[in-house]
Amino acid sequence: MTTNQRRITRRELLQHSSLAAAGLALGPGILMASDASSLPLITRPIPSTDERLPVIGVGTNRFGTDDAEMLAQIRQVLETMPKLGGTVVDTANSYGDSEAVIGRLVESIGNRDKLFLATKTPSRGEASMQEIMEAFTRLRTEQIDLVEVHNFNETDSVIPRLQQLKQDTRVRYIGCSTSRDEQYADLKAALDKYDLDFIQVDYSIDNRSAADEILPLARDKGVAVLINMPFGGRRNASSTFARVADVPLPDFAAEIDVTSWAQFFLKYVVSHPAVNVAIPGMTKLRHLEDNMLAARGRLPDAAMRSEMEKVWDAI
Ligand SMILES: NC(=O)c1ccc[n+]([C@@H]2O[C@H](COP(=O)([O-])OP(=O)(O)OC[C@H]3O[C@@H](n4cnc5c(N)ncnc54)[C@H](OP(=O)(O)O)[C@@H]3O)[C@@H](O)[C@H]2O)c1
Repeated sequence: MTTNQRRITRRELLQHSSLAAAGLALGPGILMASDASSLPLITRPIPSTDERLPVIGVGTNRFGTDDAEMLAQIRQVLETMPKLGGTVVDTANSYGDSEAVIGRLVESIGNRDKLFLATKTPSRGEASMQEIMEAFTRLRTEQIDLVEVHNFNETDSVIPRLQQLKQDTRVRYIGCSTSRDEQYADLKAALDKYDLDFIQVDYSIDNRSAADEILPLARDKGVAVLINMPFGGRRNASSTFARVADVPLPDFAAEIDVTSWAQFFLKYVVSHPAVNVAIPGMTKLRHLEDNMLAARGRLPDAAMRSEMEKVWDAI
C-alpha cells in the first residue's frame, strides 16, 4: 500500500472533521444547506435518447400504506420533489399498494407531467400481459416512462412484451432491475442479449460490488443506470446513519457542496460515471429536502471518491 492509499484512521478523521466543524461554525464563505438549494441542478443524459434526468429521484417501496398520517407525508414528498428539481419516481408491482397510492396522489396533486414514472413487472409468479397492463390503471397514466423486468422473473417472455409496449408508445423506456449480487450474472447476460435503455442495480458507499463489472458494462453498452438502496436498503439505512451519528463531516465535504451525511452518501453514488439517477427511499419531507441537495453543486472527482471511501471505511 502506498502513502496515498493509506487508510485514514478514525482518530485522524475525527481530528480532521472537528476542524471542519469549527470552520462551519465560524468561517465565512462556508456553504450552508440553505445556500445549496440555489446551486445548479445536476442532470445526466439517458444514452439512448439524450433526455436528461436529475440525478436524485425517489424510491417508493414503503409507499404501499393506508395509514392517513403516512399518506399525508408521502403526498408532501410527491408534491414537493419536482419543485426541488427531482423527477424520477421508482415503484413496482410488488411494493404493496405503492403504484395505486402514487396513481391516486399524483392525480390529485395534478403533477403527472412533472414526473418520470418508473415501475417493474411482477417479481415472481406469472407476468402476463394483463398483469403488466394493470400498472397503467393503478398508476392512472396512459404512458409509463420506464418499465423494468423485476428480478429476472420470466425475462425472456416479458422483454418482447415490453418492446411491443414501447413500439406502441405506451412505455418510453425498458430495462431490467435487481438488488442482489447473485443476479449480476443475469444482469450481464441481459445487457448482452437485449436492447435495454436502463438497468437498475444496488450500489452504495458500503456496497460497491456493482462497480466491479456491472457499472462499467452498462457504460460501455450505452445503458442508463438507476441506483437502488443508496443508503444500504430500507432495513439497513438506520444502521448506516447510526454509524455517522457522532462523526462530523470531513472538511473536504464543503468542496463538493455537501452539508449532510445523506448528501455525502448520495454524491458518492451519483458521481460514478456510469450512474444516471439514485433513488433513495424516502417518506419524509425533511429527508427529501436533504437528499435533493445532493442533486446540486459540485460532484467529487475520482481522487475525492477514493478519499470518501477511506473516510467511510475508517468509521
Ligand atoms: N430489486 C429492486 O429492483 C429493488 C430492490 C430494493 C429497492 N429498490 C428501489 O430502490 C429504492 C431505494 O431502496 P430502499 O428504500 O430499500 O433503501 P435506501 O434508499 O437505501 O434507504 C431508505 C431509508 O433511508 C431513509 N432515509 C432517506 N433519506 C434519509 C436522510 N436524508 N437521512 C436519514 N435517513 C434517510 C428512509 O427513511 P424514510 O422512509 O423515513 O424517509 C428509508 O428508511 C426503493 O424504495 C425501491 O424503489 C429496488
